[in-house]
Amino acid sequence: MWYNFPMIYLDHNATTPLDERVLAEMLPYLQGPAANASSIHSLGRRARSAVEHAREQVASWLNAHPSQVIFTASGTEANNLAIKGIAARNIPGAMAASLIEHPSVLKPMVGLMRSGWRIEKLAADDQGRCLFPELASDVRLLAVMLANNESGVLQDISKAAECARRVKAVLLVDAVQAAGKIPVDFSNSGAQLMSVSSHKIYGPQGAGALLRDKAIDLGPLIEGGGQEADLRSGTYNVAAIVGFGKAAELAAAEWKTRHEIVSRLRDQLEAGLALMPEVTVFAQAVPRLPNTTLFALRGIASETLLMNLDKLGFAVSSGSACSSGKGEPSHVLQAMPIARGLLDSVVRVSLGHENQAHEISAFLSALQRQVKGLAAYHT
Ligand SMILES: Cc1ncc(COP(=O)(O)O)c(C=O)c1O
Repeated sequence: MWYNFPMIYLDHNATTPLDERVLAEMLPYLQGPAANASSIHSLGRRARSAVEHAREQVASWLNAHPSQVIFTASGTEANNLAIKGIAARNIPGAMAASLIEHPSVLKPMVGLMRSGWRIEKLAADDQGRCLFPELASDVRLLAVMLANNESGVLQDISKAAECARRVKAVLLVDAVQAAGKIPVDFSNSGAQLMSVSSHKIYGPQGAGALLRDKAIDLGPLIEGGGQEADLRSGTYNVAAIVGFGKAAELAAAEWKTRHEIVSRLRDQLEAGLALMPEVTVFAQAVPRLPNTTLFALRGIASETLLMNLDKLGFAVSSGSACSSGKGEPSHVLQAMPIARGLLDSVVRVSLGHENQAHEISAFLSALQRQVKGLAAYHT
């Protein structure tokens, strides 16, 4: 079976394994009787109450009210709902976003240009921190991520909120990478919209949520039967939502322990990398997620390196899962900006709390051997 393949998984910003306690909560809704959570018979009501319980778990994890949680199928859908939902209820003006946002923020904004919207792009400094200039008075929405998926760098959300407030723009915070790794408090964040995703927190793929301050009027993204407050129609994916709820509950209860574990492992990793003269670790001087290390290996093509490491049983990434595989440096690295000579040599390691110290040691040894071999090949 492919899933018994002994891989050391160091790519948790792409997705996380399913926690077995989450799976246990989901199974009754996968194996049990048919139930549509909108049906009024007892089976439907049972499914509906499981969805509502999950809503409470997600709300409590992020200090939101359950009525503020709109379930979606992914973080991507939550970002699309926020951006297109605001566009649907406003006359065209401008949307603002940092250059380092995820494609699920940037692409919907670019799409809106066809209907007369403008985009204001906010630059980042060389540490990957978003800069906040004065926004034009017709900016209706500002999107800033809480943590960048590639560098792990945390963005200053209170500054973003201040920047948005000055022009009465709605603030969308993409918390997909941050939530679960650091505490996230929707009610006190200054954001009116916030996106999160289940599969980044040891929940199943196929569930996400947009948190919404009820004062914000949004148009629907998917129309139909009107589930999710008329903003997102479609039969509920009950098992995935139940899994998301459980994963949120566990993330709330265990974040501190998880934080300590991954911080220790990251320090071990970065201490090993510091001994390698060809390595540059990015954004070490600024607040970052505890699990993410982005580094470049001078003179080594990361694509070849990643394939070799894969054959040796190590799963790492050269940037985000979305931009790697396209054969071009990611927009985040270009925005930081990283020296041109290093752009093709970037590796991202993103740790999880199930990783162990001996796995980091094995990775460092494999990396050192690979670097020696590839450097000899390139010279
Ligand atoms: C910052 C950020 N936003 C949004 C997304 C999209 O989330 P999903 O994979 O649930 O669609 C990702 C996924 O990697 C992400 O890292």
